Amino acid sequence: MTSALPEFDGWLRATVERTTAVLDELLPQPAESDPVQLHAAMRHAVLGPGKRVRAALVLAAGEASRSAGGPPDVLDVALDNAAAAVELIHAYSLVHDDLPCMDDDDLRRGQPTVHRRYGEALAMLAGDALQPLAFACLAQMPIAPALVVQAVQLLARAAGSQGMVGGQAIDCAHTGHAMSVAALQQMHRMKTGALLEASVLLGGVVAGASSTARTGLEAYALAMGLAFQVVDDILDVTGNADTLGKTPGKDAALGKPTYVSTLGLAESRSLLASLHDQAQAALLPLGPAAGRLRELSDFIIGRSS
Ligand code: IPE
Ligand code: IPE
Ligand code: MG
Ligand code: MG
Ligand code: MG
Repeated sequence: MTSALPEFDGWLRATVERTTAVLDELLPQPAESDPVQLHAAMRHAVLGPGKRVRAALVLAAGEASRSAGGPPDVLDVALDNAAAAVELIHAYSLVHDDLPCMDDDDLRRGQPTVHRRYGEALAMLAGDALQPLAFACLAQMPIAPALVVQAVQLLARAAGSQGMVGGQAIDCAHTGHAMSVAALQQMHRMKTGALLEASVLLGGVVAGASSTARTGLEAYALAMGLAFQVVDDILDVTGNADTLGKTPGKDAALGKPTYVSTLGLAESRSLLASLHDQAQAALLPLGPAAGRLRELSDFIIGRSS
């Protein structure tokens, strides 16, 4: 089947460039703004070569939800802000995840982790400072104030103790202990799924998705949010440092309960196939406008980094 969409790889590359440019503009320049080292650490955390999957999900969900009406340029600016905001929260979560008191990692996005380059105190503070910047970025969205409030609530809930941070706390508490599949699923949905879900839903909120579209987006996001961390668990076992940009084998070394340690590789892969099917089925009511979300689900399942 031929697609009317420009090729996916090119679109994703353009998304990475576009989002990175927005982030570059948002982050204070160390040369112009004290504290110099803090700002340098923040830039190191955010501007490295991340995949920007969460940004891509915001933009693709926005594309899938766009209704007629409303000036497209204004909507694009708002979606760019939402995409950047999610990437800021994600980057902060990685800085803290890599700290010696958590996963104690030296390598991230092919570079030394923030605490390895700038020290632990600045890494903690850089992560802290990225959070308010994310919400300031959402507050700049040129859309109806009621939608801005909804977006702020969405991201705050996803990032907080009942979302990403809560999932990280469960992860810390269970390091060295086996988990039931149900508990593992809950942990993954919180620590990683919550922010991916928020990315999809933010795109929908900003673009004014209909209630039918929102229902489809929610089901898609739930499946892909979990799938993302299942793939991450698999890549920790099967990947290499050059491709991953992080040190493989850390989960087993630290005694982390993962899908691979709990179900094995083969069953983890068959779970992925069924999450992929669920995600694709959820998009059916959105029709061709959801093309990029379909492609993103293929990308997330098939990725090698
Ligand atoms: C890694 O996320 C951490 C998880 C939540 C699994 P990504 O794989 O999206 O990392 P980057 O942003 O591409 O570096
Ligand atoms: C990280 O999970 C989840 C968050 C950062 C919230 P992992 O600890 O598995 O992520 P990586 O493998 O270090 O990227
Ligand atoms: Mg971790
Ligand atoms: Mg980690
Ligand atoms: Mg991992």
